[in-house]
Amino acid sequence: MKTASEVVLSSSDSSNNPVHIGIIMDGNGRWAKRRGQTRTQGHKRGLEVAKAIVKKASELHIPYVTLYAFSTENWKRTTEEVGFLMNLIKTHLKAELAFYAENKIRVQHIGNLRNLPPDIQEEITAVVSDTAHFTNTTVVLAINYGGKDEIVRAIKKIPLQSLTSLDENTLSLYMDISDLPPVDLLIRTGGDQRISNFLLWQSAYAEIYFDPDLWPDWTETHLLKAINSYNSRERRFGSIK
Ligand code: FPP
Repeated sequence: MKTASEVVLSSSDSSNNPVHIGIIMDGNGRWAKRRGQTRTQGHKRGLEVAKAIVKKASELHIPYVTLYAFSTENWKRTTEEVGFLMNLIKTHLKAELAFYAENKIRVQHIGNLRNLPPDIQEEITAVVSDTAHFTNTTVVLAINYGGKDEIVRAIKKIPLQSLTSLDENTLSLYMDISDLPPVDLLIRTGGDQRISNFLLWQSAYAEIYFDPDLWPDWTETHLLKAINSYNSRERRFGSIK
């Protein structure tokens, strides 16, 4: 694999960099299993990697990064794993305000907030409010998030009399974050090639990058390679050249 600096050299023109990168951080469990560790140790390592990737994205001034931290389907995991992930997220949000402040990162949340445990809701609300004034990268934490769930909740917010004249622009105003730009680059690590209910509405024309490496093995070089791949693609949005 190329070193980080070699990869940077080939992406010296950053004007085409993606505005919004979405990441499905997959492979924590397998990473841990390969080391004879528990799945929870994989998630712990996954969080450290998430911080390093977010830091790199903020150095590159990528405006938006959305991380799939906990899906609406992840409740099906064991009570132990769900409890661990909730606690990991809560502890991170409580302890890492300085990390976000140092890097001038604004945190936003996407997902069904009200169905989360009250203490997690409180931490999410606090970090979103405490970082609202930062103007470098916005990190969107997808927690208890499902793309179908978001669309259904959006539709339920629309006044009945507006439904017959509903169009795409109006519906996007009712999404969890109404001004969230579309996903330009959707990354999934860990070798599987599926979207798993992530940012369905926002990824309509996303460029997809599947990486075989497991999330806990990801480094900033992986991110640069994904961005380079994105920068080499021609986006036509259904049009012709
Ligand atoms: C998928 O790997 C990963 C998750 C469901 C959890 C991801 C969460 C983190 C990395 C913590 C990040 C938290 C914040 C606040 C950024 P998997 O468990 O499905 O792995 P496997 O496919 O190998 O089993």
